[in-house]
Amino acid sequence: MITLPGLLDTEAIRKDFPILDRVLHDGKKLVYLDNAATSQTPRQVIDVLSEYYEQHNANVHRGVHVLAEEATALYEGARDKVAAFINAPSRDEVIFTKNASESLNLVANMLGWADEPYRVDSDTEVVITEMEHHSNIVPWQLLSQRTGAKLKWFGLTDDGRLDLSNIEEVITEKTKIVSFTLVSNIMGTVNPVEAIVRRAQDVGALVLIDASQAAPHMVLDVQALQADFVAFTGHKMCGPTGIGVLWGRQELLEDLPPFLGGGEMIETVSMHSSTYAPAPHKFEAGTPPIAQAVGLGAAVDYLSSIGMDKIAQHEHALTEYAVKRLLEVPDLRIIGPATAEDRGAAISFTLGDIHPHDVGQVLDEQGIAVRVGHHCARPVCLRYGIPATTRASFYLYSTPAEVDALVDGLEHVRNFFG
Ligand code: ALA
Repeated sequence: MITLPGLLDTEAIRKDFPILDRVLHDGKKLVYLDNAATSQTPRQVIDVLSEYYEQHNANVHRGVHVLAEEATALYEGARDKVAAFINAPSRDEVIFTKNASESLNLVANMLGWADEPYRVDSDTEVVITEMEHHSNIVPWQLLSQRTGAKLKWFGLTDDGRLDLSNIEEVITEKTKIVSFTLVSNIMGTVNPVEAIVRRAQDVGALVLIDASQAAPHMVLDVQALQADFVAFTGHKMCGPTGIGVLWGRQELLEDLPPFLGGGEMIETVSMHSSTYAPAPHKFEAGTPPIAQAVGLGAAVDYLSSIGMDKIAQHEHALTEYAVKRLLEVPDLRIIGPATAEDRGAAISFTLGDIHPHDVGQVLDEQGIAVRVGHHCARPVCLRYGIPATTRASFYLYSTPAEVDALVDGLEHVRNFFG
């Protein structure tokens, strides 16, 4: 068994994840390397979800009965846990959404309907990057089409990093918001937040960080990031699907208009007009994802009990090993940083001219789960002149033996396709 400095006790951790014991076709043990798409769920979270439905299920903020009060306390308790996890100055800055896409769309719509000084209109510019997930491209395209604002972006270097050489031309006095990913979902690149935030602050632009691929893997401190908004999702960090988070600075959440209208987000309603509840409720119209938020609270407890710094260390050690081993495979080209520095644990690659869908299929026959395609980041594939990639992505329960299984699996793919 290979041991690397910094690895977690995966033998113990894997016992928390029942699904990792699955045996697939032909007795092949599951090797789950699709964590950037969704992570697996520990028993501790599954138990909390079961208990919620078995003991406490009710709608929140509405009833005076015992179950309603318990459900409300659990839902609002989850908000406290998430606020502490990201070091938010106030629990009221944590908005629950259904996923990171909804969080990103929410900000785009807040700004589209906002008054000055936040309003995005035809005299203004919006800045993103070429390595964004579609969920951080399309909402800004929609906003630009609706308002006439100019959409600009940072390009990529050949080794999968942001090209910030023209930062002063890209982020200008006209920029209203800069929205970028902290960690690329397709290439794993970790982006230089500080340089971008500094320039945005110099010109008075807001900053939105997509932390979907960061929150599960590293210490996420929204105060240290100095952004205005941070978005992420629960299902990539040991939580259930159907729950996302938007953190926003309190004064912005007070000033900016809601996007979705409905129950829960109001103070008073008449047939002529309405007034709104304070944030976060102003942005949580309708019955929220209650069980999912409670599950995310349990996930945050679980990750914190292990320690995000230890998880980051584990993934760094494993990524270093994986990059080294993958580069030993003939004809394999890593798309993105071919080093473990400033990169996360999602590694995309091509294998000669074998189509990634074929790679994924032959790996699947060996029990190895990876993602293939453009990973909802098609501009990255266009930039590097490839139709798609195969992506292996690791998490706190991933092991060097699984990296070895992937490398052996790729040898098998090469032999299979001659
Ligand atoms: N955004 C997820 C991924 O990158 C689904 O795979």
